[in-house]
Amino acid sequence: MTYQLKILITSDEIRNAVARLAGEIRKDYEGKQPLLIGILKGSFVFMADLIRRLDLPLEVYFVALSSYGAAKETSGKVRVVQGLRALIRGRDVLVIEDIVDTGTSISFLLDYLRKKKPASLRLCSLTDKPSRRRVPVSIDYLGFTLPDKFIVGYGLDWNEKFRYLPNLCFLEG
Ligand code: IMP
Ligand code: MG
Repeated sequence: MTYQLKILITSDEIRNAVARLAGEIRKDYEGKQPLLIGILKGSFVFMADLIRRLDLPLEVYFVALSSYGAAKETSGKVRVVQGLRALIRGRDVLVIEDIVDTGTSISFLLDYLRKKKPASLRLCSLTDKPSRRRVPVSIDYLGFTLPDKFIVGYGLDWNEKFRYLPNLCFLEG
């Protein structure tokens, strides 16, 4: 496959968005001890940057979901690969996602968490591709709305590659 990597959103723009999101979250969770749940692997870079700007006594957990494999399209079936050891009941839970695409994965996880009776449950996603939505999802804290392109970098991969790129890029070709 021949392709070119083009920058869509620069690391400076990402830094500004993370600062803005952190400000919104800090205000809403003042006096609380939120439990942040990142979805592996894509959210790990965003999570690392976000938590260092929150200045809250938060806890960090990760959950692994699977549905993609090596394909660029979701299979529509989602599994929890790595379960949650965290106690959700009565906690203020904030889910951290890299990208909401069809919405299948995140709505599955939100349903799963809601059954565990958290005090509150919200979603923060760095990016959103609303044009591809199949399952409705409401995003409480959103960084960027993206066009319908396959995005890599800042944690996002194509077939496990390009996660290390500091900018959000798209593959063309
Ligand atoms: P959904 O279930 O279709 O919303 O897929 C969400 C998951 O698919 C995200 O958490 C990503 O891991 C992955 N994904 C969706 N779109 C992209 C993309 O453009 N680049 C990289 N990963 C993506
Ligand atoms: Mg993901």
